This record gives sequence, structure tokens and C-alpha cells, in this order.
Amino acid sequence: MNHTCADLSAHWPYPRWIAHRGAGKTAPENTLSAFRLGASHGFRMFECDVKLSADGEPFLLHDDDLCRTTDGQGDAGGQPWAQLSRLDAGGWHGPAYAGEPLLRLEALATWLLANRLLVNLEIKPSPGREAETGAVVADHVTRLWSDEAIKPLLSSFKPEALAAAQACQPGLPRALLLTAWHPGWQHTAEALGCVAVVVHHPCLDAASIATAHAMGLRVLTYTVNEADRADALWHAGLDGLITDAVDQPWAQERESVAC
Ligand code: G3P
Ligand code: MG
Repeated sequence: MNHTCADLSAHWPYPRWIAHRGAGKTAPENTLSAFRLGASHGFRMFECDVKLSADGEPFLLHDDDLCRTTDGQGDAGGQPWAQLSRLDAGGWHGPAYAGEPLLRLEALATWLLANRLLVNLEIKPSPGREAETGAVVADHVTRLWSDEAIKPLLSSFKPEALAAAQACQPGLPRALLLTAWHPGWQHTAEALGCVAVVVHHPCLDAASIATAHAMGLRVLTYTVNEADRADALWHAGLDGLITDAVDQPWAQERESVAC
């Protein structure tokens, strides 16, 4: 059985704790090593950043530019996957990870499905490729997770990316990322058929969470790395929390993903 967006407002199938970029800062972000480490700490769900190569391959990278987290240079979206696949995306973090490659969405899906783990795919388009990225990611997700009841949660700061995902694959769950409660956020979330908002944590309190809940939206937050802040947000009614603190005892997911 597939969960429709209406089902999700009644029953939220995702774990509450979500490891940021695979394993926060404890392994090279958005690489398979990071996901393996996050899972070893008990996380059952992960957030990561997806963009397109020049030839349209979805792969994981946070920045527009390659230089911070790989041994490459320049605009990541301007290079074909054959070139990107030869880069070292681990050595910048430390010698133990030297040679770690960039991760294609397809390879991530294979690993997640084999290990019965869940994901929040943040659509992180290269500038000017918002709609293309949203559409390609949605089409890939539909194919790669075709047999799964619990689909990846698609999120983005870019409404154009979510709109394209919605147009191509309306049955996939979508969440609007918000750095603040921007004017018009309710209209945007409704128009995009979102099931959730993912909000910068200083903007959240019990009242704002209740406002979103009253609209039928779940409320997730990024990026909470302090135990006290996490406790306060759970008490305020939060539904999901993205954290870098994967190696901290207070931030380890222990519940089953069974739905
Ligand atoms: O998806 C939540 C969070 O990852 C958004 O910020 O910059 O870490 O991608 P950023
Ligand atoms: Mg992100």
C-alpha cells in the first residue's frame, strides 16, 4: 500500500530523528560513508542534498561549487557525471575518507532500500535549474522507490523545484523549507500541496507549530545540535528534527520504521 498525501496528515510514517547530510559533521557530508556512520549510531532516516550534473544525473552535494567538499573546482552542475564520478569527496574531511566518491541518488536508493532506511531528499538545484531538478528528482524517486509504501520526503527552499516535482509526480510527499516565516508561506505550502514545513529552529515555538498543525502540516526543523533545544521543541509539538549530533546519546533514533 502506498501512503497518499491525505494519509500522511493522519499518520506520519517517518522517524522523529533525522541525521543531517548523512552523519552531520562526523563523516564527509552526503557520502555513503556518512550514511553508514549515521546508521551505525541508530538513525533510521537521513536528510541529504540533491542536485543535477550537466548531463542530468541526480547526485548528492550541498554547495553549488565543488571546492569545499571535493578535490574538484567550479560549478558542480556544469560538469558531466563521468567527470564528477572521478572526484574525491572524502579526503577534505580527513585521510580515513580519502577516495570516497560523490554519491548518485540511484546508489543511495540501493543502499537505503537494502537496509530498510528512509530519507528526506532536499532538492538543492544549481541556480537556474530549479524546475528541471525538481522534475528529474521526482521521476527518479518514483522509479527507484516504486515498490515502497514509504516514499522519500522531498523538500526544498525553492518553490519552483517543488512545483515541478508536484506536476510530474503529484503522489510524492513534499515539504517547504523555510529560513523564516516569510509572508505568504501558508499560500505557498498550500499551493504546492505540502504535507510538512521544515523550518529553521530559532523560528519555532509552540504557537507557530500549532499554527502549522492547524493547516494540516507536520513541522520538522533544522539543524538542532543541543539537547535542551531538542527537548524544548519536542515539548512544543515538533514532528521531526534534523541534527548533526549523530554521535550524541540524546540524539539517537531507536524506534522502528515499521508503519
Ligand atoms: O534540509 C534541511 C537543511 O539541510 C537545510 O539547510 O543548508 O544544511 O541544506 P542546508
Ligand atoms: Mg540540506
